[in-house]
Amino acid sequence: MARKIIIDTDPGQDDAVAILLALASPEEIHVLGIVAVAGNVGLAQNAKNALKVVELSGRTEVPVYAGCPRPLMRKLVTAEHVHGQTGLDGPDLPEPAKKLETPHGVDFIIETLMREPENTVTLCALGPLTNLGMALAKEPRIAPRIQEIVLMGGAYFEVGNITPAAEFNIYVDPEAAATVFACAAPIAMMPLDVTHRMLATPARVAAFRAIGNRTGAAVADMLGFSERFDLEKYGWQGAPLHDPCVTAYLLAPEIFSGRKCNVEIETNSELTRGMTVADYWHVTDRPHNATFIREGNSDAFYALLTERLARLP
Ligand code: BDR
Ligand code: CA
Repeated sequence: MARKIIIDTDPGQDDAVAILLALASPEEIHVLGIVAVAGNVGLAQNAKNALKVVELSGRTEVPVYAGCPRPLMRKLVTAEHVHGQTGLDGPDLPEPAKKLETPHGVDFIIETLMREPENTVTLCALGPLTNLGMALAKEPRIAPRIQEIVLMGGAYFEVGNITPAAEFNIYVDPEAAATVFACAAPIAMMPLDVTHRMLATPARVAAFRAIGNRTGAAVADMLGFSERFDLEKYGWQGAPLHDPCVTAYLLAPEIFSGRKCNVEIETNSELTRGMTVADYWHVTDRPHNATFIREGNSDAFYALLTERLARLP
């Protein structure tokens, strides 16, 4: 039976690829809904981008909701410098005809978890953890009902991308992240340590375009845009592809490896705000609240992506 998931996202070119991978895999993944959050750009634009991505996939029956417009306690920090003014610069996607659903995204998360049988819904988080943190605060009874939280966020050995200490998604809403990491549901995290191994080299981007469908062309255009910032920043042969690690992990966990350990979120320090302090070497007796994914097979990852995106229009 397909695994039921909710995708919480701030699309984002890499979010878009993560969503497309899930929507291309209905035998394994049942997307109950997609919830937008403020992050890469503002909420309204991220929600619109989610609608565009769903229309691109042809899976227009999948509902899209808007969640929180700003972090729980902080001013929103955005990343237009990476993703462009629309958050999804690159491809020329049409204005969406599809509309947002009316309920608030946080209520959709809560109602879905309370309605579905316990431990049958996985939350996939591709942006700041505001909606999940808010849902846990509003209805704490959801926590033991969550099958798993699989999230892109954090970094330890690779340290930060938005500050020297912090990865963007955790940095934007550290209080929400702290709430999520303390909720006691199983968590698998895809930090920069693994996403920085998944480089979108020119040959891999060309393989997406060579699929010959509209999705492959749009993905190649997206990555062609979003990589320019990272290529200059890191000087690598390709830009990291972060968020698809989440949906690839659901489809092919054997691509990834890591270990369970304690992960705490720094919320107080100005210098290290949003740092994910991972006790990877088990030097404390703090509880193992997350599976920290550190390695991934990038050839297998890109082969999976290319094969699945070829199934879409
Ligand atoms: C994360 O930040 C966003 O800009 C990307 O979409 C990804 O979720 C990487 O740090
Ligand atoms: Ca994202």
